[in-house]
Amino acid sequence: MSEGSQLGSTTAWGVSGASGAPQMPPRVVVPAPSSEASMLPFERTSASEPVAEAVAETAEAPSVEIGPTGRPMPYLPDPPPVAEHGTARVVSMCNQKGGVGKTTTTINLGASLAEFGRKVLLVDFDPQGSLSVGLGLNPHEMDLTIYNLLLEPGVTLEDVVVPSGVPGMDLLPSNIDLSAAEVQLVNEVAREQTLQRVLAPALASYDVILIDCQPSLGLLTVNALTASDGVIVPLECEYFALRGVALLKTTIDKVRERLNPRLEIEGVLGTMFDGRTLHGREVMERLVQAWGDTVFHTVIRRTVKFSDSTVAGEPITTYASSSTGAESYRQLAKEVLSRWHDA
Ligand SMILES: Nc1ncnc2c1ncn2[C@@H]1O[C@H](COP(=O)(O)OP(=O)(O)OP(=O)(O)O)[C@@H](O)[C@H]1O
Ligand SMILES: [Mg+2]
Repeated sequence: MSEGSQLGSTTAWGVSGASGAPQMPPRVVVPAPSSEASMLPFERTSASEPVAEAVAETAEAPSVEIGPTGRPMPYLPDPPPVAEHGTARVVSMCNQKGGVGKTTTTINLGASLAEFGRKVLLVDFDPQGSLSVGLGLNPHEMDLTIYNLLLEPGVTLEDVVVPSGVPGMDLLPSNIDLSAAEVQLVNEVAREQTLQRVLAPALASYDVILIDCQPSLGLLTVNALTASDGVIVPLECEYFALRGVALLKTTIDKVRERLNPRLEIEGVLGTMFDGRTLHGREVMERLVQAWGDTVFHTVIRRTVKFSDSTVAGEPITTYASSSTGAESYRQLAKEVLSRWHDA
């Protein structure tokens, strides 16, 4: 991705020219004061002409909103509806560090994409089963899980898939059974391609398939990466966030070289961000230094609403629909869709 593509080329629909849509202008916020007059408009009411001049001057010099990552915030229009569903883009949420927001991002990005009319399939690929629990399923009451789909030849995708409770979004659930798959898959032929093989029938009927990986770089995660077109790397905005990322990058590179040449890093997502602290802002600065434009402009702030919505067993987009957290994930969905469109 090019260094200087913060505005325009990485942003709006149609910038690449594919749709022929006009390039959208950057969002204009409070204009930068360009003269003394513009800073003191109310004290100059007796002289209406200079005020009018000042307004005209400032209107010509709009400033661009600086986003939480310290870069100009691109204009992200609502994505156009899709005419027909199909050939899903498969994306893994991956980071071997635990508790960075992989599951939260899978649920809420999925629910936001579904709100925008995309048909979404979520894959719980973690034996902890947090994604399934986060959508209100009881791990002890699952007849069939992704484990059965991976290892039992007679089981089909339709047998395992369940509605998620969000219109337009389905789920392949998981529970602790999946922990045995890591060992059992070792003896399979083309063991790294097992998930890709079982997901193949879903590609035609969904627009997006999101895979929630477990916090490790073992065989299950390699399966997820092999089945994917892209990877989203959620990173908690704290001091040790970048530790271990080099190893993740090496794993992604190896999978791309040896198993899946189409795999790309879709973006790095800053999560649990606290912009009020210097620490939070410094970590964000380091993230952008290290990853450049790969870092999403959208950032997910720290809020207890996420834990509350997990307890409620639903996405934040329905649990607290107008909260900042819900809005951030809707914005991420728009950003993700615009990156795919521009690709
Ligand atoms: N932006 C946020 N603000 C506050 N809490 C959050 C945020 N995102 C996630 N959390 C909470 O942090 C915890 C870990 O999040 P999550 O389960 O999504 O991480 P994970 O990377 O999937 O973890 P694991 O590696 O164990 O699978 C959860 O309790 C979740 O509710
Ligand atoms: Mg998780």
